[in-house]
Amino acid sequence: MQVIEEIREWVTIKKYTEEKIEPEALERILDAGIRAPSAKNRQPWRFIACTDKSVRNKILSAAYGQEHVGSAPVIIAACTTNTEYKMPNGQASYPIDISIAVSFMMIQARAEKLGSCIVTTYDEAEIKDILSVPYSMRVVMLLLIGHPDEKPILTKRKLKSRVIAHEHW
Ligand SMILES: Cc1cc2nc3c(=O)[nH]c(=O)nc-3n(C[C@H](O)[C@H](O)[C@H](O)COP(=O)(O)O)c2cc1C
Repeated sequence: MQVIEEIREWVTIKKYTEEKIEPEALERILDAGIRAPSAKNRQPWRFIACTDKSVRNKILSAAYGQEHVGSAPVIIAACTTNTEYKMPNGQASYPIDISIAVSFMMIQARAEKLGSCIVTTYDEAEIKDILSVPYSMRVVMLLLIGHPDEKPILTKRKLKSRVIAHEHW
């Protein structure tokens, strides 16, 4: 058994064609996200899928006009519905829960032959305003999804021996 191709060949896509994403594919991607595990199965998330051009243009402006944000036919704003909950180890659960869900979505997008990119470079207050996100909630990240218009070379990873240990650090 090998690591599945979607993970083994993982690469972020930052250039998208103008082709729209089929609603069924988007639905499967969102379904994959909400299937993700979360601390105590609290599922402290709300995913706002934006396909409307005028909304995406506003997001583009809140993301400082970054080209890849403007070209993605779908932008999913991954928001938390609870910023308070701490796990038994004392760490906040929401960034972890939401990151795992977004990972599931990226893998599903890849299986749909789509590309994706996490974006964290944006003015959160502005995005919240655009998407009517309640004051006490947070927009943890944006996920761009689209048909790839580039074939980037595989990004390098640190040597296994530097990042994996057995039994002790
Ligand atoms: C937490 C996180 C935040 C990121 N923020 C951004 C971002 O703001 N803008 C962007 O273009 N890419 C962003 N990325 C994508 C990374 O730059 C990219 O995953 C990394 O360079 C490795 O490249 P690869 O995904 O092609 O292997 C982010 C990725 C992660 C996991």
